[in-house]
Amino acid sequence: MPDVDLDDLAARVTRLADAAAGRRVLVGVVGAPGSGKSTLAKRLANRLTADGWPAVRVPMDGFHLADVALAERRLLDRKGAPETFDAHGYLNLLRRLRAETGHDVLAPGFERDLEQPIAASITVAPSHRVVLTEGNYLLDDADPWPEVHAELDEVWFVDLDDGRRRSRLVDRHVKHGKTPEAAQAWVDEVDEPNARRVLARSGTADLVVPSP
Ligand SMILES: Nc1ncnc2c1ncn2[C@@H]1O[C@H](COP(=O)(O)OP(=O)(O)O)[C@@H](O)[C@H]1O
Ligand SMILES: [Mg+2]
Repeated sequence: MPDVDLDDLAARVTRLADAAAGRRVLVGVVGAPGSGKSTLAKRLANRLTADGWPAVRVPMDGFHLADVALAERRLLDRKGAPETFDAHGYLNLLRRLRAETGHDVLAPGFERDLEQPIAASITVAPSHRVVLTEGNYLLDDADPWPEVHAELDEVWFVDLDDGRRRSRLVDRHVKHGKTPEAAQAWVDEVDEPNARRVLARSGTADLVVPSP
């Protein structure tokens, strides 16, 4: 597959923004864990902002349940699975981003060293005409994910072969504190079933983008 062309993607977003006639544009970036969603969304937000289209990245990962809530549900060993996210909270934020364009909306981020969401980390300002929101389950068919999809102008699927994707994922877990053995086990046992679930929905995306 050809290298990701940020110019083409930026042009696609600015066309959507032009057509939206002042309405905020929400583009979803989906893909299996480690495929490069966050990297792509950060680069594209920077590019659009530099080109005069202020854009901000809003990660679905901000809606990870905190460890205290995962422990209550005995889900600590499944972090990253669909049931470990506050999907309705994320849906509500997307609706707020559509409706509340006259004041700042604060979105949660996800801190990878702590592996915890951090409330009110990301400012979506009235000037942000473009929101790039990225995560695993934007195209999932379980409730309430179809309602999430319905809030998005387009959803792009980031594609990376399983070999490179899994090795980047192991490296990322190690970088944030896991031993290589624990990282590999987590990728095999926790991330992989989630990846299969995400990949099964790739056909419903508006565009397939090669990983950055
Ligand atoms: N072109 C690349 N070459 C090597 N590693 C990359 C590249 N792009 C991203 N990565 C790394 O791969 C890992 C997964 O990328 P990330 O954007 O975090 O994926 P996702 O958000 O889909 O889980 C990260 O550690 C990132 O730094
Ligand atoms: Mg990510």
